[in-house]
Amino acid sequence: MANRSAFVAPIEDDDQWRVTADLIAISPTLQKTAQLERQQQQATDQARLAVLDALSEESGADPQEAKELFEFLCTQCHNLEEVEAWPPEDDEEIRELVERIVDNCLEASEYEMAQLMRHMNERYVSK
Ligand code: HEC
Repeated sequence: MANRSAFVAPIEDDDQWRVTADLIAISPTLQKTAQLERQQQQATDQARLAVLDALSEESGADPQEAKELFEFLCTQCHNLEEVEAWPPEDDEEIRELVERIVDNCLEASEYEMAQLMRHMNERYVSK
């Protein structure tokens, strides 16, 4: 693959890595492997969720940024109708939902998850 376009425009290491990431995203078999690797991180992810409450209160979050993050991160595997159909009704359900979605392999930093939870609270709970 790297050789193919070497003549016209050599692929930089950086680009090769990105192309590889794209391939992983579209190949079910590779996805399965990636999923297994991610499952090993799950224990850590669960632990990280424990500090999210504190974080979401502390971070001086920008509501617009939180909304964009939500729309970006939560439409990677399905559209938002999936969420609108089963909206979380309180903070407990938001936490359970995020845990479930992390099990489904959502990758997000602590800060991003805190933003997500904050946005979902504003969007579904305290509206
Ligand atoms: C890595 C893929 C992936 C991402 C990213 C993702 N989801 Fe999902 N989601 C799924 C899958 C798979 C299902 C159906 C199976 C299930 O419920 O576990 C689902 C189902 C749902 C459901 C309905 C059923 C349930 O479990 O309540 C809701 C609501 C939902 N997702 C919300 C979200 C939100 C909110 C986000 C962003 C934080 C998100 N999803 C991001 C994979 C994903």
